[in-house]
Amino acid sequence: MSIRYMEQEKIFKLDTRHTSYIMAVVDTERFFGHVYYGRRIADQDMRYLMRLSEPPYVPSGNNRDRVVFYDNFPMEYPAYGTGDYREACLSIRSAGGHSACQLNYESYRILDGKPCLTALPAVTGGSGDCMTLEVTLRDPVLELKVLLSYSVYEEEDAVTRSVRVINEGGASIKLTRVLSACLELDGMNYDMITLHGSWARERHVQRRTIGYGKQSTSSLRGEPGHQDNPFIAVLASDATEDNGDVYGMNLVYSGNFIAQAEGCQHDTVRVVMGIHPTDFTWLLDEGESFQAPEAVMVYSAEGIGGMTRRFHDLYRNHLIRGKYADQKRPILINNWEATYFDFNTEKLLSIAREASSLGIEMLVMDDGWFGGRNSDNEALGDWTVNEEKITGGLKKLVCEVNKLGMKFGIWFEPEMISPDSKLYRKHPDWALQIPGRTGSLCRNQYVLDLTRKDVRDYVYSCLETILRSANIEYVKWDMNRQLTDIGSYSLKPEQQGEIFHRYVLGVYELMERLTGDFPYILLENCSGGGARFDPGMLYYSPQIWCSDDTDAIERLMIQRGTAMVYPLSCIGAHVSDCPNHTVGRTTPFETRGYAAMAGTFGYELDITRISEEDKRCIPGQTAMYHKYNDLIRRGDYYRITNAEESGLDCWQVTSRDRKEALVTCIQILGRPNIHSRRIRLKGLSENIMYRLEGTSECYSGGALMYAGIQMTGMHGDFTGRILHFTECQRSGEYE
Ligand code: DGJ
Repeated sequence: MSIRYMEQEKIFKLDTRHTSYIMAVVDTERFFGHVYYGRRIADQDMRYLMRLSEPPYVPSGNNRDRVVFYDNFPMEYPAYGTGDYREACLSIRSAGGHSACQLNYESYRILDGKPCLTALPAVTGGSGDCMTLEVTLRDPVLELKVLLSYSVYEEEDAVTRSVRVINEGGASIKLTRVLSACLELDGMNYDMITLHGSWARERHVQRRTIGYGKQSTSSLRGEPGHQDNPFIAVLASDATEDNGDVYGMNLVYSGNFIAQAEGCQHDTVRVVMGIHPTDFTWLLDEGESFQAPEAVMVYSAEGIGGMTRRFHDLYRNHLIRGKYADQKRPILINNWEATYFDFNTEKLLSIAREASSLGIEMLVMDDGWFGGRNSDNEALGDWTVNEEKITGGLKKLVCEVNKLGMKFGIWFEPEMISPDSKLYRKHPDWALQIPGRTGSLCRNQYVLDLTRKDVRDYVYSCLETILRSANIEYVKWDMNRQLTDIGSYSLKPEQQGEIFHRYVLGVYELMERLTGDFPYILLENCSGGGARFDPGMLYYSPQIWCSDDTDAIERLMIQRGTAMVYPLSCIGAHVSDCPNHTVGRTTPFETRGYAAMAGTFGYELDITRISEEDKRCIPGQTAMYHKYNDLIRRGDYYRITNAEESGLDCWQVTSRDRKEALVTCIQILGRPNIHSRRIRLKGLSENIMYRLEGTSECYSGGALMYAGIQMTGMHGDFTGRILHFTECQRSGEYE
């Protein structure tokens, strides 16, 4: 049983294979506090950690210092306004105009499996996958009920949390913040890791020391953005890639968020995560409820790498869904970097013909096939096929592509509207906007008001019509600008603060309909590259376009940061042409293939124009993809070296049974006279002898992990190599 309630001590204990998470109800007023999160420990009374017999004491024994108690106590779900001055998870504005809220423990129940979250994506869990603890807290004055849910994934060493707020009083309440999780840590010797960047530089890893005060990563862009990601790791300052305490938190949400660590006065750290409170309000009338998104927590005593592997396992096993969740994806060729807007049926077919002969399995038609779209200035919203380009219609094109033995995929940007479009001329009020203000254009487009059902229905009917008109087996769902001018004609003034969240709910509803009606379609999310790479999107699409930067060397950092949390199976990655369109760099075709293999693998180039030499590489690359993709998609991922420190970026994927491992190394610049380029492998079995493919050399797992292996043959800038090890015999010495 992974959830236990110790009646006498009033302790809740959530156990996974290697971790324990402990909470307790204390004092006569039944405060609900956090006790411990970390390595798994035996059942016992852990309340001594809360130091309740020391000043400031609990209010029943020392009411004169109630504020001091509130400001010290490790609240499991802190509310604003009665004396806890650290960051709150919940704040309200009552009908009387007041902001204080105080939550006390009321009851609990334990469930097998996990109920779905209303209208929100979440890690899934049937009976046998997880158990759920629901704890009810209540503010007796407001009659506000707060339901905290904890689902325990024993196998994956993860706990997911969510919060539902229910107004059981007789008056409306305005919620002004509802965060999803709080974690109280003792001590101040922590660092934090967050992921940052910009367009074409997404999710670079940043590690910094946590100091006193608040330090955070956040977004107010209406999506996580290229700049930030809803992920934070708080780790012991001496934790490394392979050792030490690491707490990882990730929000299953695709809108505004905050993830913050706060170094507090008595040397504790409070970590909170949830929807960003700026420009968020939610009106709760009598009897209504609000569901906050889910936060995922993992703890690893095996350093940052251990945290990564826990996230990967959880997401592969319980978040990514549908036909392709655990399937090899068709190798696609996308025409964006090949043609941009300048294409027609003949051009697409010439690409498809060449591609199919080289082992590529799907053609994806990107932006520019609809309405009068010949540049990024117009036609978003006019989702009818432009038959001047797609001569004879879409069905004919798809049939021709299918005849070549290839699947067909298509691009949409359903959330947007161009001012120069039939749709905007007919429905100017369908864009998010504030009456009397000039809207801020971005890529010459506005954002559709997806808080409105009529707008969502229009968008969906357009998608549906196109998808039913031909044999379309893949959709790339793009979003090329972020939200501004937060105003909707459909909401009352007191609900305009709900727009950001309602927008995200609108997107989720559309994706739910799409994936429900077209379960055979492979959906790839995208947002001007990788601006919306989060677990919320992963719930709907098993892969997400990682970045518009397709340069193999830039991708090393982008993909390493992305893989910090998200499995390789979902990282959209393509081999593109050189000089690279974004950075102008020329890298070997082979290396581009190795970088793309650490993701979904595909091509994005004009295959009719690349050199014969490059073309000759493609059959070998596609064969390599088929050979290794099961291992890459399902295996355990290890970071071995990184380019910033050693000039060599090196990662490894090991099969779950440890009988097979693939090591990929990419050197940045060639260097003369390098004597030692030894890398140490990870996650192998000491007892297994491994043969290096293509040689007769055998090494024990111990030798490969503790002594290492010399990386030879790395000659030239941007050279790449893969080493494939398979079990050849067991090493007798260790048996
Ligand atoms: C941004 C995407 O990331 C690109 O791959 C491409 O689809 C363009 N949008 C099309 O406008």
